[in-house]
Amino acid sequence: MYSSNNQMPKNKLYYQQNLPNQMVTAVIVLNSELTVQYANPAAEALLIKSINKLKGSTLNTIFFNNPISDKRLKQLLTSGQEFSDSDVILEFFDRRKITVEITASSVVFDKNPHILLEFKQIDQQKQISAEAFQQQQWESARDLIRGLAHEIKNPLGGLRGAAQLLNRELNEEQQEYTQMIIEQADRLTNLVDRLLGPNQVPKMATQNIHIVLEKVAQLVSFNNPQQSEIIKDYDPSLPDICFDEDKIHQAILNIINNAIQVIGSDGQIILKTRAASNKTINGKKIKLAAQISIIDNGPGIPEKLQDTLFYPMVSGRANGTGLGLSISQTLVNQHQGKLSCVSQPGHTEFIILLPITQEAAS
Ligand SMILES: Nc1ncnc2c1ncn2[C@@H]1O[C@H](COP(=O)(O)OP(=O)(O)O)[C@@H](O)[C@H]1O
Ligand SMILES: [Mg+2]
Repeated sequence: MYSSNNQMPKNKLYYQQNLPNQMVTAVIVLNSELTVQYANPAAEALLIKSINKLKGSTLNTIFFNNPISDKRLKQLLTSGQEFSDSDVILEFFDRRKITVEITASSVVFDKNPHILLEFKQIDQQKQISAEAFQQQQWESARDLIRGLAHEIKNPLGGLRGAAQLLNRELNEEQQEYTQMIIEQADRLTNLVDRLLGPNQVPKMATQNIHIVLEKVAQLVSFNNPQQSEIIKDYDPSLPDICFDEDKIHQAILNIINNAIQVIGSDGQIILKTRAASNKTINGKKIKLAAQISIIDNGPGIPEKLQDTLFYPMVSGRANGTGLGLSISQTLVNQHQGKLSCVSQPGHTEFIILLPITQEAAS
């Protein structure tokens, strides 16, 4: 019960509420012999060991490379010198590695000094800020190219118009030259339009993603009859999602076309769908998303392209424009989704995440 001046009478209340059990920070308590006496559920999850297994063990038997020396812990017990280390890599005996921030402080339980160790996992935060950085870089590269494309487009229109006027004044032989100007101006306009990227507002409708995948697969097989096998690994229970069919069709087609270009005649493409929970898209937590993977068993993304893969005009092919993936990225972003890629020789996977909204799912 609260006292009249609104102060907690005893910390017991917090304890009774099982506060340590609710915490997301992993907490373990060591006694003066430096053996584990207590671990909260977050610590059990982080260390993948139950409290029964942990109890009585030392840090040296938990971590493959124990980064917290006994000497420092003893010092903490004797002098109360608390410490906090960030960016510590913990390695376990199964070679699993995590990056954490560790805080060690002293506490007294039952009149005996103990050590309270808190572990905060920071790999996920790091990954999110790396993603945000990539996204920013991609956006500034795209804006630069768009700005440039705009600047080229206007004089190009004037150039073409003038060539058309001139064309009327010339004899047939001379018109060859003006025709050439017009044709080349048209080619450039076409390129510039693609550099400007998709600019129509999406026409969103709630629908089944598999219908689009089927259409793309059919088109690809039709265009490449003698080549490649497309394997479908769909999750039929995936709820409908809200998207613009043409745009998502284009985004997926660009990715598959790249795969077709690199896999041999015995190559394989897998179209896979799954529901994915608790994903982060552009720094926002998304409860439920549709995950569409386009996987090929080709040679993998060339190493030198990996960091700038989605930038416009980045291509590994002599006759490539480097616009396909940049356009796919823009189209997926227009749906508040995320396009990413993991690649190694024999397995390249492009992953599209599209948020599933409550209304669409019901
Ligand atoms: N599935 C893949 N496997 C290997 N490399 C790929 C794959 N997809 C894309 N790439 C590489 O990424 C580059 C950029 O692709 P893209 O943006 O579509 O432009 P383009 O196809 O015009 O080169 C390609 O040239 C290729 O080198
Ligand atoms: Mg391409």
